[in-house]
Amino acid sequence: MEKTRIVVVGSCNTDLVISVDHLPAPGETIIGHDFMTNQGGKGANQAVAVARLGGTTAFVARVGDDGFGRQSIALLKEEGIDTRHVLLTEGVATGVAMIPVDCRGENSIIVASGANALLTPADIDAAADTIREAGIVLMQLETPVDTLIRAARLAREGGALVVLNPAPFPKEPLPAELLALVDIITPNETEASMMAGISITDEASALQAILKIQATGIKQVILTAGSKGAYTAESGSLVNIPAVKTEVVDTTAAGDTFCGALCVALSEGNGLTGAIRFANRAAALSVTRRGAWMSIPKRGEID
Ligand code: ATP
Ligand code: RIB
Repeated sequence: MEKTRIVVVGSCNTDLVISVDHLPAPGETIIGHDFMTNQGGKGANQAVAVARLGGTTAFVARVGDDGFGRQSIALLKEEGIDTRHVLLTEGVATGVAMIPVDCRGENSIIVASGANALLTPADIDAAADTIREAGIVLMQLETPVDTLIRAARLAREGGALVVLNPAPFPKEPLPAELLALVDIITPNETEASMMAGISITDEASALQAILKIQATGIKQVILTAGSKGAYTAESGSLVNIPAVKTEVVDTTAAGDTFCGALCVALSEGNGLTGAIRFANRAAALSVTRRGAWMSIPKRGEID
């Protein structure tokens, strides 16, 4: 039987969002506008994107044994996500993200990891059957890297495609052990610049960065580039898959929507370029709406 299930391993946060005229400079205090408490977290956002866009998904994560954590699990279930491996963690807070969003839709994000930092390789072992049965395992970097290595190893053993969204990119380089287990990586321009050690300022430097990341052994690099869409390299040449032109309200979770959509399209048998086109369409819709989960479209809005 063909494996089409997408297992997401990653973070689950509650987002505390304030809309502002401009993002505060260091040392600056500003008065913002309205405040919202939203569901978020890169892992949870990606799992929700998969579920809303028609994929079957299980989520492996930790939340705190608090109101935010219990609410997150209940809402993940309502999305049709298998939450058997979303664990309540005693005595720790659920991850929280503080997000000011400016009038152009740009944001800055500070994450207090809380329970996300306690997702261990043993938790992955406890979810081993689920991970081994996956067609695709999708991960980000808001949970410990040794845990992701364990998940990627089990995924590979089960024959799954391993997709890494390297966000947020850490100060230290990613371990070669992890990179060796990744099939597709989806950095944005900042992450690709950090990973490759090349400042991306134009298409030539974008290609250089993609090729340098490919040289680590990762077959497919998909560089997301906001309103420019996404770039890949084919036979050493740059390929642009343009974004859908749209009005921008809030870009929070655009990258997460892109990753979830990409995996759904791949799980349905699309080639990489077709999957990126689908992901661009889903992500473009997400930037027209505020918030993280709140902004993620359903399949019927895209087909
Ligand atoms: P974020 O951190 O804001 O969630 P990101 O920095 O991870 O996003 P981006 O490259 O900014 O990633 O955006 C991801 C994808 O979202 C893009 O490849 C594109 O498909 C879509 N997107 C983002 N911004 C726009 C925009 N202004 N117009 C249309 N599509 C957009
Ligand atoms: O990618 C957006 C997400 O980053 C937010 O939902 C926030 O929780 C942080 O994890």
